[in-house]
Formats: sequence, structure tokens, C-alpha cells
Amino acid sequence: MNTYSLAVIGGDGIGPDVTQAALAGVQAAAERYGFTVRTTSFDLGAEHYLRTGEVMDRPTTVALEKHDAVLLGAVGDPRVAPGILERGLVVALRTAFNQSVNIRPVRLYPGVESPVRGVTSQNCDLVVVRENTEGLYTGGGSLSHAGSDRAVAVQNSITTAGATAEAVEFAFQLAQQRRRRVTLCHKTNILVHAGQLWQQTVNRIAESYPEVEHDYVHADAMCQHLPLDPGRFDVIVTDNLFGDIISDLGATVQGGLGLAASANFNPRGTAPSMYEPVHGSAPDIAGKGWANPAAAALSAALCLAGLGQREAALSLEAAVASVVAELPALAGPEMGADTAALGHRIAQRVAEGEPVRDGTGEQS
Ligand code: NAD
Ligand code: IPM
Ligand code: MN
Repeated sequence: MNTYSLAVIGGDGIGPDVTQAALAGVQAAAERYGFTVRTTSFDLGAEHYLRTGEVMDRPTTVALEKHDAVLLGAVGDPRVAPGILERGLVVALRTAFNQSVNIRPVRLYPGVESPVRGVTSQNCDLVVVRENTEGLYTGGGSLSHAGSDRAVAVQNSITTAGATAEAVEFAFQLAQQRRRRVTLCHKTNILVHAGQLWQQTVNRIAESYPEVEHDYVHADAMCQHLPLDPGRFDVIVTDNLFGDIISDLGATVQGGLGLAASANFNPRGTAPSMYEPVHGSAPDIAGKGWANPAAAALSAALCLAGLGQREAALSLEAAVASVVAELPALAGPEMGADTAALGHRIAQRVAEGEPVRDGTGEQS
């Protein structure tokens, strides 16, 4: 029997609750499809930082790296200055583990209502492929004369051919298995140096995929096209910051942040990949027990697929889809959502649902 080791970082706010609920689905899928998932929980996030003064030490990073995959809830806490946990944990792991590709599916599941008029499950099925380690996220720069009226902030952005090509190659490979269209999203009209590198990389890689069409949309215009005409897109490839922003926009289009999943892939396979919902720790609803665990559970389904358990992944995704069809997308107490109960319901659907075939393997 295959056994996988999964490092689990619940993190802050709603992170631990939605992760726990997602794990119920994972374990149900493991049982049904005949494999074992051993989880190791890592106590990281705001409490750990406030207690120890350290976000994540080197031995912890080494320990995380020994796992087959990492499942992350979210970090971020109003008691901790912005950036300390986000940079020190999320961005640090994406960088340390060379997770240069972040995929964020934007899919409206049947039965879920989009807040955008005219968006249906027929016309909303696209994937944002985000370069995940570079751009403005590299973090270099300075703030001089802080607090004075002479203050100047410099925030560096780095774009390399290597990481850009990894994201673009991934986007074309994905598009080839889908509707065969890649859209580059950038601001080539103003970020001319990085923009040129992105466009040249797309043009070069496109030559190896003659059956995949490609086009270009500026990031600002994307904010109109994505909600009003999501059906126009199949795979959107973009840089780190634009990808962060348009994936929250995509989340809204697909029914809310509570439904948006993501996978941080290391395309070279030299370190584990990490799976996490698109949303954050949601301090405004933390501790209330009504966060929607669907985004975390769909991220866990991406994790099962990444581990090679495709049918289990499809079964978990189908279970989440059937549960969210019964819910308003943005959960809330008045809507009767309960994070733990939804986790159980998802697990139950995995256990009892129709067996799923992916068309490439044997039925389990
Ligand atoms: P957020 O994504 O946490 O929340 C935005 C809004 O969406 C809030 O109103 C929240 O209640 C709602 N929401 C989010 N997830 C939900 C769910 N599962 N169910 C129902 N409603 C949900 O964004 P924010 O408020 O800007 O950030 C809060 C903290 O999270 C910040 O510290 C931020 O840096 C951090 N953050 C962390 C990650 C991560 O760890 N991967 C991702 C994004 C933000
Ligand atoms: C996300 C988050 C992160 C990002 C933060 C927490 C570093 O917003 O995963 O979307 O900006 O990438
Ligand atoms: Mn984000």
C-alpha cells in the first residue's frame, strides 16, 4: 500500500479549522482508494512567533522538506506586523522549495451562484498559472528617511528567464490538455523590461506548442474581462503580484474566497509542493467556526493529484462540489455553514459517492 507523508501547517485564524476539515476528506479518500496518508503537524504561525520570536528556523524547514507534500491553512494575525509571517513562512517556503509555479483554478461548480451576473458553470472554467518566487516578491529594497517627509521606498522586482520559463512551460502544457489557449497577463506597456522578458518567453515556448493559441491582456483590463467574460480564458499565465491579485478576483467570480484552491508546484520535483487555499487567515471570522472549508479541501484534492492519486483527487473534488452545491458560497452562521460539519459531510460523500474514473486508470 502506498504511504505518503504530509506536513500540515494549520497556521492562524481560520487556517487550522479549514485544514482539519480538509484532512477529513483526505483520510476518507485514502481509505476508499487504498493508500495511507501520515500527517505531521507543525506548530507555526502567530502564536509560535509571539512565543519564540522566530517564524521558522532552519531545522523546521529541513523537516518540512522531508515530506512528500505540505498542506498549509493560512498565516497572518493582527498582533503581528504585516509581512513577518507572510514573508517568513509562505514566501520563504515557496522560495526555499523552488515552487516556481502556482496554479489557481477558477471554476464555478454547478449549483453555486456567482455574484457576477451571467457567469455559469458552462462559461467559468479557467486556471491562473502564477510565477511564484519572483517579481516584487523577491523583497529587496529599502526605506530611507522613514517617517520623515523625505522618505523614499525602493521595492525591487526581479524577473529571471528561468522561473518565467518554468511558469510559461507549465501553462502551455496545461492548456494543451484543456482548451488550448494561453493568455499572458502583464503590464508590458509600463513594466517594459520585465514585460519584454515575459512576452519573449511566451513567444519562444509557444513555438513548441503549435496547437495552443496565445494572446495577451493587460492586467488592468483583465479586471474587466475576467469577471464579465471568463469563458474567453482557458489558462492565464502571469507574474507573481498580478497573479495574486487576479486570483482573488477569480475567486469572487467563482463564488467567493471560500471556494478558491491553489497548488504551489516545484516543477523540477527537487522539493515538496505545497497546497493551500487562496484565502488568508480571515481574522474577521476567526474562531467563529463558520469558515467555508471548500477551498482548503479542493487544495487537498490538488495535493492528492500531485501525489499521483488521481482518482482519489477527483473523488474529493466531486464530494466538495456536491456539498457546495447545497450552500451559499460565502459561508456564514445565518446560512447554516459549520466548518467541521462540512468537513464531515465532504468525507462522507467521498466514502459513499460514486466511484470516480479519470479515464486513464483502473476503477478503484
Ligand atoms: P482573507 O483572504 O483572509 O479574507 C478576505 C475576506 O474573505 C474576509 O472577509 C474573510 O472573512 C473572507 N473569507 C476568507 N476565507 C474565507 C472562508 N474560507 N470562508 C468564508 N469567508 C472567507 O484576506 P485578508 O483579510 O486580506 O487577510 C487576512 C490575513 O491573512 C492577512 O494577515 C494576510 O496577510 C493573510 N493572508 C495569508 C495567506 C496565506 O497564508 N496563504 C493568504 C492571503 C492572506
Ligand atoms: C496568497 C497570499 C500570499 C501572496 C501572501 C500571504 C504572501 O496573498 O497566497 O495569495 O501574496 O502570495
Ligand atoms: Mn493572495
